[in-house]
Amino acid sequence: MKTIVANWKMQLTTTEAVTLAREICEGQANAHIILCPSFPSLSGVSTVLRSSSVLLGAQDLFWEEKGAYTGEVSAAQLREVGCSHVLIGHSERRKYVRETDQMINKKLITALSGKLAPILCVGKAYRMQLTKALTGLHLRHQETLLIAYEPESAIGKKVEKLETVVKVHEEIRGLVTKLLPGIKPKQIHVLYGGGMEKKSAPLFLAENQVDGLLVGGASLTMATFAPILEAAYDA
Ligand code: PGA
Repeated sequence: MKTIVANWKMQLTTTEAVTLAREICEGQANAHIILCPSFPSLSGVSTVLRSSSVLLGAQDLFWEEKGAYTGEVSAAQLREVGCSHVLIGHSERRKYVRETDQMINKKLITALSGKLAPILCVGKAYRMQLTKALTGLHLRHQETLLIAYEPESAIGKKVEKLETVVKVHEEIRGLVTKLLPGIKPKQIHVLYGGGMEKKSAPLFLAENQVDGLLVGGASLTMATFAPILEAAYDA
């Protein structure tokens, strides 16, 4: 089953996020769907998702468990509100708040020990980013690592060439296997993100190397998101 992650960024009010989550749940497709609203909307969206198989993810977390860290949010707080997943290292965080690979590494370790499945975002510099982010990481057998390959040039714009994506995903799988000895292939899920829309979704999802999609802009309305969910259903 393919995974579709909706990254709602800072685009929706809670009222809008709750309404959209309700619509997504009504048309539930046979895909692994994870919705990532902004922090203030997590609780409202969580209530909507309670009786569905759609999962909740946060867009970030802090690396400490608890303490005097104004403005930050912990893994335990995210779990309590119903999150099972968390995006880490999105290129917009790397760019706008100067998140470093070292911070991302600490966040990954904290997410796993806090029982959140991390969705690690990497861009064009995926080799270096993965090498630094995965240092000292240990996955237990039942844990999975989702990696979203999102070329910066494609985000909010046009999808990357499919043949390039397939090659990069294959390389990412190999690299992760080397960096995390003992990890099983089924624990590694490689998603593609950047400029995804309904025309490209079926083509990308038909590829074995593409375990799913991370969707930004097109996940903000049912008119653009429903066809992507349907493509995942058929894949
Ligand atoms: P996009 O965003 O689908 O709007 O390109 C994807 C992302 O940044 O996660």
